[in-house]
Amino acid sequence: MLRRLSIAVAGGLLLASTLAGCGGDDAGSGNSGGGGDDKITLGFSQVGAESGWRTANTKSIQESAASAGIDLKFSDAQGKQENQIKAIRSFITQRVDVIAFSPVVESGWSTVLKEAKDAGIPVILTDRAIDDPDTSLYKSFIGSDFVEEGKKAGEWLVKEYEGKSEPVNIVELQGTPGAAPANDRKSGFADVIKADTKFKVVASQTGQFTRTDGKAVMETFLKSQPKIDVLYAHNDDMGLGAIEAIEAAGKKPGTDIKIITVDAVKDGMTALSEGKINFIVECSPLLGPQLMDLVKKVNNGETIPQRVLTEETTFTPEQAKAALPDRKY
Ligand code: AHR
Repeated sequence: MLRRLSIAVAGGLLLASTLAGCGGDDAGSGNSGGGGDDKITLGFSQVGAESGWRTANTKSIQESAASAGIDLKFSDAQGKQENQIKAIRSFITQRVDVIAFSPVVESGWSTVLKEAKDAGIPVILTDRAIDDPDTSLYKSFIGSDFVEEGKKAGEWLVKEYEGKSEPVNIVELQGTPGAAPANDRKSGFADVIKADTKFKVVASQTGQFTRTDGKAVMETFLKSQPKIDVLYAHNDDMGLGAIEAIEAAGKKPGTDIKIITVDAVKDGMTALSEGKINFIVECSPLLGPQLMDLVKKVNNGETIPQRVLTEETTFTPEQAKAALPDRKY
């Protein structure tokens, strides 16, 4: 099945570039931006490498920059906001043409983004939003609607338990504290399930979007909670770690404990096709081609849409089986 990466843009459709090659180095190395040749220089600060989703996202950005002929200065923040702020300041010093980044957390960006604005360097947010009300600090935000993703997870659950009156005990593995996908997937899900009091989130803790922490936190949930009916994990990796913990506890994931995750990376989709996960809400990491298109436009002085929304779907086990042969990540 062909993945849909159509984009709802306030006014238009973005062209996807072909993926090829690779690129990227550290924020402090490479050519200086802004001068010398005609190549656009893009400084990109990535969150880290916490999940399969992130790996696919990095690949998409590096490959599409190479394919678009954009000089990419890639910096890995290793999950730390201070590293991202440092990288952005380094991009400003190097006078790159455009800065893009995927913010580790939502808050605390106004000072450094004002510095970029004062330097006349346009900024594009990718994947994750910031909570600053001053939208003049960035030109565009490209990525998913995480609240909607949480709602889709909740809607599946409501339907799954339709007509049943017994309490449904849910444990939740949250993403990185303060990150937009953690905040929004939590609130979207809570908004939907609150309509029926049989749904109870009996434990909710961060698993940092990683497999290791997902497993460790699920182990503690299994020890502390006498009855767990459902696990809602904010990404596939935490769900996959939790599956290991559930199996080690002698329970059958997907049957004894129903599992809902977000992302739909290959490993998650495989577990879904095997019945170990029951439902996945898709979140696309393939943002590179659209980002490069925006970078070119903003560098040309064209007006770009403030919000570029990635269109995504959901998967049941049967749909995962059908989609897996063509899954790119
Ligand atoms: O911001 C997107 C989220 O970050 C993905 O869902 C998760 O896997 C990643 O680490």
